[in-house]
Amino acid sequence: MKSAILNLLRDEGEEVSGEVLSKELGTSRVSVWKHINGLREAGYVIEASSRGYRLTSSPDLLLGWEFPERGKKFQHFTTVDSTMDVARVLADGGAEGGTVVVAESQNRGRGRLSREWFSPRGGIYFTLILRPEIAPAYAPRMNLMASVAVARTLRNLLGLDARLKWPNDVLIEGRKVCGILAEMGAEMDAVKFINIGVGINANLSIARYGEKAASLKDFKGTQVSRKDILNSLLEEMFRQQSLLTTGDLLEEWKSLSATLNREVRIETIGGEIAGRAVDIDSNGALVIKGKDGSLRTAFAGDCFHL
Ligand code: BTN
Repeated sequence: MKSAILNLLRDEGEEVSGEVLSKELGTSRVSVWKHINGLREAGYVIEASSRGYRLTSSPDLLLGWEFPERGKKFQHFTTVDSTMDVARVLADGGAEGGTVVVAESQNRGRGRLSREWFSPRGGIYFTLILRPEIAPAYAPRMNLMASVAVARTLRNLLGLDARLKWPNDVLIEGRKVCGILAEMGAEMDAVKFINIGVGINANLSIARYGEKAASLKDFKGTQVSRKDILNSLLEEMFRQQSLLTTGDLLEEWKSLSATLNREVRIETIGGEIAGRAVDIDSNGALVIKGKDGSLRTAFAGDCFHL
């Protein structure tokens, strides 16, 4: 109901009478009034006059009713420890594939390799629960899928030159704007769920990371719409899922890559691999050519562009 009210008020751009709202929505004027008050409590400024209701501003929050097409599969929190933890409990409890857990901020945001993910307000933090019907062997491709989806969204929506750093960072002008963390629940021969966590530095001030990281707003020179980014990104992630088992996904990752054809150093659990990044294999592992011409494969680790 709240998203329908917002749509009507936004479409009109000026006053809409309580009578028209209740007719359009097939509900009583009292019910319209209650929902208007609910929206006001959430931070929407809705003026009331003798001519009706007028929406004058909306809060910059990723509230469920701003994403009506996701229905009940969208869970919004003001703050959580980590959307990964919430999503795991939901996935273990049988939540449907396509469920999204979003938080305005996280107290213990988690990054790859047990690092902290700085998660103050202004960023986009979510975990998408997917239940793909694939063998566990295909699971690493989920990371590729998600990073390609982020890069495509930032390119198409904001016109930014987003590129991919292996394994799954999204960079703009060499600075990290997004990180991706995937967790899986599986049996030997079947994936039960894959939770993909995405953190995007949208409207943050992150000077503390120096040249390493940046926010989308730094490149646009103005605040970006987190709502539009999240909406487009979720659509893109659902679309990209159909490419999971085809070679198209790898080709697209390669075309967006900032790592391929560069000298790199990869720190893995088993030691260091240095050389030229020449390819990624069908599971997203990086193929590195050493000075002696030998090829080595890195499955996971920290990648440094030299
Ligand atoms: C990385 O280290 O690059 C991955 C960062 C992933 C951060 C996101 S924010 C939403 C989700 N919740 C978390 O605690 N982490 C992921």
